[in-house]
Amino acid sequence: MLVLGIESSCDETAAAVVRRPMVLSDIVHSQVDMHAEFGGVVPELAARDHLKNIRPVVSQALGHAGVTLSDLDAIAVTNRPGLSGALLIGTQMAHAMAWSANKPLIGVDHLVGHLLAPFLHFPELSPPSSPDFPFIGVVASGGHTALYRVDGPYASLMTELGATRDDAAGEAYDKVAKLMGLGYPGGPVIDALAQQGDPSAIDFKKPLPQKDSLEFSFSGLKTQVARWIAKEGLPKNDQTLRDLCASFQRCVVETLIEKAIAAAELEQLSTIVLCGGVSANKTLRALGKSSCEQRGLTLIVPHIRACTDNAAMIAYAGCFLADQGADDRGQLTISPRSIVPRLTRKGGGLRA
Ligand code: KG4
Ligand code: ZN
Repeated sequence: MLVLGIESSCDETAAAVVRRPMVLSDIVHSQVDMHAEFGGVVPELAARDHLKNIRPVVSQALGHAGVTLSDLDAIAVTNRPGLSGALLIGTQMAHAMAWSANKPLIGVDHLVGHLLAPFLHFPELSPPSSPDFPFIGVVASGGHTALYRVDGPYASLMTELGATRDDAAGEAYDKVAKLMGLGYPGGPVIDALAQQGDPSAIDFKKPLPQKDSLEFSFSGLKTQVARWIAKEGLPKNDQTLRDLCASFQRCVVETLIEKAIAAAELEQLSTIVLCGGVSANKTLRALGKSSCEQRGLTLIVPHIRACTDNAAMIAYAGCFLADQGADDRGQLTISPRSIVPRLTRKGGGLRA
């Protein structure tokens, strides 16, 4: 099964070709520099930039993989969730290609792509230690933070156990970085500064610490940082800045790990997968590994390049759907949303 994946849900224009599990090409055009001056993603600019770059990015993905449109078995595209204008560019491109070449078109939920990222095998990197189903998946990205029980590679086999009530973990990093004047995106810069900081220097309180709650909340933590800055002023030296970053990061990282372990215990599962942009975080990866080992659990994280948004994870998820024949043969009248079932919420009902 040879699948082209297209991703344009936020600020990365990406295309990749996957023959499961091998990633034959993986092209990502990041818009980060363009949005940096605004301190966050500007939806209208994102959509315009996707429009400018989608064709060259897709051509490069096909070229690097050494395949043509006619060689493909299917075209997979992120169809939800994301910025609507941004999503439209990817889905229109995929619809047009599928229609013109009479290829199956597969709509993929972006979060399903993230949850399957640890299975991706990049030829130039060592093979991943992929998880066995079922496992607990933690998606921690700029737009989402949620825990899933993952019983298989389809959205219908992924059950949300808890999600954030307000800000996503990555969003908290980005907003706190903005408060400190550290630029966008905040995650990598706070992560780097925190490595030389004292995580116990400032006594920020972890949000929703109750052991029986699998929900997250990060906006109050951001407010704690804002209040600290209002009282003390912006850090006056490098060490205070590092300590501030490390103290904030401790709360985010420990919360993600504690909730994931609580979910594993509740569901009686022994494997936890961390994914989404925040899973690139050094402290989260290291502390997650040691905390899981202490409890006899296995922690699996994707290769760093598969943590943040990419199209290889979309193509990979698309391979399973193509196997099942879940496609609309490129017919433009079918809404991409109807192709893939939405992730289900535990206790019934559909996730909005
Ligand atoms: O998954 P992703 O690329 O895009 C979304 O689907 O949102 O995640 C981007 C988010 C941003 O908020 C960014 O600040 C965060 O991931 N991020 C990190 C790190 N690298 C990226 N957060 C913490 N530590 C990092 N090293
Ligand atoms: Zn993402």
